[in-house]
Amino acid sequence: MSRVPFAGVGRVVSGAVARPRTSFVCQQCGAQFAKWVGRCNDCGHWDSVVEEAVAPRPTAGPQRTSIAIGAARDAKPVPLGSVEPQTASRVSTGLVELDRVLGGGIVAGSAILLGGDPGIGKSTISLQVLGELGRRGMKALYVSGEESPEQVKMRADRLGSGDSILILPETCVEEVLEQVEETNPAVVLVDSIQTMHSRELASAPGSVGQVRECAAALVTMAKASGRPTILIGHVTKEGTIAGPRVLEHVVDTVLHFEGDSDGGLRLLRAVKNRFGPTNEVGVLEMGESGLRDVGNPSAVLLAERPKGAPGSVVLPTVEGTRPLLVEVQALAAKSALAMPRRTTLGLDANRVAVLTAIVDKRAGLKLWEHDLFVSIAGGFRVAEPAADLAIIAAIGSSASDQPLPADLVLFGEVGLAGEVRAVRHAETRLREAAKLGFARAIVPAATARGAKAPDGLSVEGVASVGELWSLLFRARRPRPEPLDA
Ligand SMILES: Nc1ncnc2c1ncn2[C@@H]1O[C@H](COP(=O)(O)OP(=O)(O)OP(=O)(O)O)[C@@H](O)[C@H]1O
Ligand SMILES: [Mg+2]
Repeated sequence: MSRVPFAGVGRVVSGAVARPRTSFVCQQCGAQFAKWVGRCNDCGHWDSVVEEAVAPRPTAGPQRTSIAIGAARDAKPVPLGSVEPQTASRVSTGLVELDRVLGGGIVAGSAILLGGDPGIGKSTISLQVLGELGRRGMKALYVSGEESPEQVKMRADRLGSGDSILILPETCVEEVLEQVEETNPAVVLVDSIQTMHSRELASAPGSVGQVRECAAALVTMAKASGRPTILIGHVTKEGTIAGPRVLEHVVDTVLHFEGDSDGGLRLLRAVKNRFGPTNEVGVLEMGESGLRDVGNPSAVLLAERPKGAPGSVVLPTVEGTRPLLVEVQALAAKSALAMPRRTTLGLDANRVAVLTAIVDKRAGLKLWEHDLFVSIAGGFRVAEPAADLAIIAAIGSSASDQPLPADLVLFGEVGLAGEVRAVRHAETRLREAAKLGFARAIVPAATARGAKAPDGLSVEGVASVGELWSLLFRARRPRPEPLDA
């Protein structure tokens, strides 16, 4: 029998035939059923019953280890001081931006979940990483459940990497684990976890039970053997990784690959990381020969910015610890509809609705007569409140048809009373703006008093939306009539 962890889980070893045993368990209350039901009879939850493999009764000998702690079998307590830290065994992926998101490279024995929209480049970046590790003499196994070896080879040829990679077209996780034992690779990639299935379960690949069992088996293998293991995951329409939430708990690192799949720029975000900072972002660019690091993303993001166009504003945002200059665009156009349209791209629609109401009230713009479109250029998403001041300025600029100075940046949170509040990382934002050649920054008054202005950047503070209007729009107080009348 193979020594693969988890290989025996779910088998009832009675008599000559080992038949898999499963039961259906409610994920909310733990009630067990003999067959699948749509609604749990015990707690009443809908769609919470999932097929699970039943572990054999413990007998003499080793038992199933906890996947969460990744503990080795027969472990003994040791003084923490005598433990070698894992940082020494980080391996660079060849992509500076990916290394940065991982916290300095791939850690031995770590399980990484890489999620992202279809076609965003998950297979591409994984193939590039395996190719790079192969060049460093590490044997890499690419388990492909989605594409044939020929398809993967075509991509590898385009990327110019990967001849040393072992490719395994397989979707059965037990077979995969057996092949891993046999070929003994230094790193394993599974593309994708949703295509994997376990023989122990009767449910279809991609179902919650299957995804969880397969991920658990692969993570246990990674922990027990010290092989870094990368799992590619699909995302749902809502943008979360498809499958059970527990998938994100069992792995060490969860990376989200984002961006506009039509455009070239991609954002790699660490949403969970046991070996580095979370919320760190890496910026990459997709090209003919794969993904490339983008050293100065702000310059790339602002490259096509229209200068002197009403409704265009530059916002220094911070992703994780990294400043990025992005362009906020607003378009307020007279509406023929009884209910004017409100559309946002890359920004929270509710937040923009609140800011629109604040502009209406404090600056006297009749925005209910306008369709309003607000977006972040380049397919980026900005969720932080520091964007408020820039959004308000962009809406005001478009509604009043007055362009803002091209060398201006704005950031700050705006409250319902129209007050402008300080935000974190003010100096980082100002430094990035100065680095990119911006000459003027409008910031919350409290920030202007406390922050040190970098050379070449004049920093002005505003305490309210009214003050912002006085500064930007024809240097006078807000007028009560619509500006486009
Ligand atoms: N010849 C090419 N030149 C430039 N870019 C290409 C080329 N071929 C593919 N791409 C890019 O690669 C992307 C597809 O990459 P990849 O197959 O790695 O995505 P994926 O996330 O694995 O998708 P899926 O979810 O379908 O598996 C395309 O969206 C495109 O941006
Ligand atoms: Mg793919």
